[in-house]
Amino acid sequence: MRNRIEPDESHGPHPWAIYTLDPVRWREAMIAVYQRAYRPLGRYCYLRRRDIKSYIQWLHRRCPEGLFGAVQHMSLLGWIAVDDDFINEMGRLVGAVHELVVNPDVQHHGIGRALMNHALRWLSARGCSHVELWVGVDNEPAQRFYRRLGFRPIPPARGIWLKMIRTLAPVPKSGQPHPTSVILE
Ligand SMILES: CC(C)(COP(=O)(O)OP(=O)(O)OC[C@H]1O[C@@H](n2cnc3c(N)ncnc32)[C@H](O)[C@@H]1OP(=O)(O)O)[C@@H](O)C(=O)NCCC(=O)NCCS
Repeated sequence: MRNRIEPDESHGPHPWAIYTLDPVRWREAMIAVYQRAYRPLGRYCYLRRRDIKSYIQWLHRRCPEGLFGAVQHMSLLGWIAVDDDFINEMGRLVGAVHELVVNPDVQHHGIGRALMNHALRWLSARGCSHVELWVGVDNEPAQRFYRRLGFRPIPPARGIWLKMIRTLAPVPKSGQPHPTSVILE
């Protein structure tokens, strides 16, 4: 584990914190959380272990500093993969949220929201003003979750995927802001 970024002490007797993840050190835990989170959503995920492993390697290659995990007592509760330098299908440079998964045992405790807010602050500090993600057309809980976080759907769907976007407030030019000082729109 490296680069402790944002300890989150708001979770009472069982505090957890958000860290930048080293995908070699955390690979097995990342795979386990991914498999558990997607168990009811098989059409939207990689099923074979080796494909999940390659996917995590791809995420890391895309943006080596863009993997963040919520960790409690060295146990991974959830993780997010973002990218501050992604060319979308229209040829536009955007910020992207490629993946977000939370262990079902600890869903609905605000971990997904905290990971997303952390990642959006990081993208904003990297100069992203526009963020995109793709969510399963039938994955209504995730769509509702993203809507509450300020994303809006961009229909029509492409196959089984629906695009959602949101804007981020620009970061003031003076110096590199601490992530927590960045104001999100
Ligand atoms: C989508 C996902 C990442 C959300 O993670 P999460 O940790 O459960 O998210 P949160 O707890 O922050 O919010 C989830 C819900 O719990 C509610 N919640 C948050 N804190 C809560 C608390 N303390 N008590 C009760 N409910 C709470 C939120 O209001 C939210 O409700 P909503 O979904 O109706 O908006 C998670 O459900 C998941 O891993 N899903 C499977 C994989 C997936 O679909 N990923 C998205 C791919 S595009």
